[in-house]
Amino acid sequence: MKKFGILTSGGDCPGLNAVIRAVTMRAAYHDAEVMGIRGGWRGMVYPDTVKLTRSGVDGILKEGGTILGISRFSPYHVQDGVARLVANVREFNLHGLIAVGGEGTLSLALRLHTEVGLRVVGVPKTIDNDVNATEETFGFDTAVAIATEAIDRLRTTAEAHQRVIVVEVMGRDAGWIAAAAGLAGGAELILVPERPALLKDVLEMVKRWQRMGRTSSLIVVAEGALIKQHAQGSAELVLSNKTTDHMGRPRLGGVGAFLAQEIEAQTGVETRVTVLGHTQRGGTPTARDRILATRMGAFAADLCGGSRWGTMAALKCGQMVEVTLQDAVGKKKLLSEDLYEVASTFFD
Ligand code: F6P
Repeated sequence: MKKFGILTSGGDCPGLNAVIRAVTMRAAYHDAEVMGIRGGWRGMVYPDTVKLTRSGVDGILKEGGTILGISRFSPYHVQDGVARLVANVREFNLHGLIAVGGEGTLSLALRLHTEVGLRVVGVPKTIDNDVNATEETFGFDTAVAIATEAIDRLRTTAEAHQRVIVVEVMGRDAGWIAAAAGLAGGAELILVPERPALLKDVLEMVKRWQRMGRTSSLIVVAEGALIKQHAQGSAELVLSNKTTDHMGRPRLGGVGAFLAQEIEAQTGVETRVTVLGHTQRGGTPTARDRILATRMGAFAADLCGGSRWGTMAALKCGQMVEVTLQDAVGKKKLLSEDLYEVASTFFD
């Protein structure tokens, strides 16, 4: 009997358990059993594994998080990490490894495949929806549903108090969540990284709303939105926390509070900010995400069974397709122009 390994790595998102379940069940088609690696790549370097069985994955489809645990660990960041990983793959007698993760994880999978011949297949996941070569990642639909519900709720309190409410959503360098949830929630303005905004224009807009007699409004801002604070200056991230994450990237967050403060100070309109943060990653996946995650898991098991190393499961024109990890990494899939364009019809 063959053995497939599976790990979840990066930041969690709804749908990971659906993938684990699908891989476990589908592996039987390839006469394979499945070993779960706990804690992402860390469990491959410092062995931490669990045998996945049909009964063990029963009922996890609708659960958020991941039964395997997750980390942003990289074998390249610890002494002998890669050598240990290679030795453990041999020791576990793995036919191949399925790595479920976002851009960072998939880049790592490609590097290990290229440099030490790791027999790996990728499954893209992230609420940010920014992985190239796939039209959608699971987790995104759930995050948009959570953010839209929050916007609907904030709308009623904004109206009652006649306030502007700024809602900050996740998404890193891509404006997918902001644009989709903002459109679905009827936001009066959506700010995304792909369209740097001049602070003065935002303030002018709020003043215009006031003149028009609008008594409340909702502004959705992506955590990675770039703001030009002065006409001559450059557009920049606004960060409340100056530290960086394990990959040396800025920890995003703070632009919502900055905007709320500027709007209230410079227009006189009472303004509040709500940062949705990790609520967007928690809880049960939507039906759409359960279906996408299950299809991706089953397809990845097939890729692993067929020894299609260095590839990734992807969604193209509604179908599951095989793409290379090379196609998926290096460049992020940024917000489509047409989605933002339609949403901007309502910035009035
Ligand atoms: O990539 C997913 C994501 O949720 C981003 O939207 C966000 O910037 C980041 O992860 C937050 O990371 P952490 O969970 O480490 O705070």
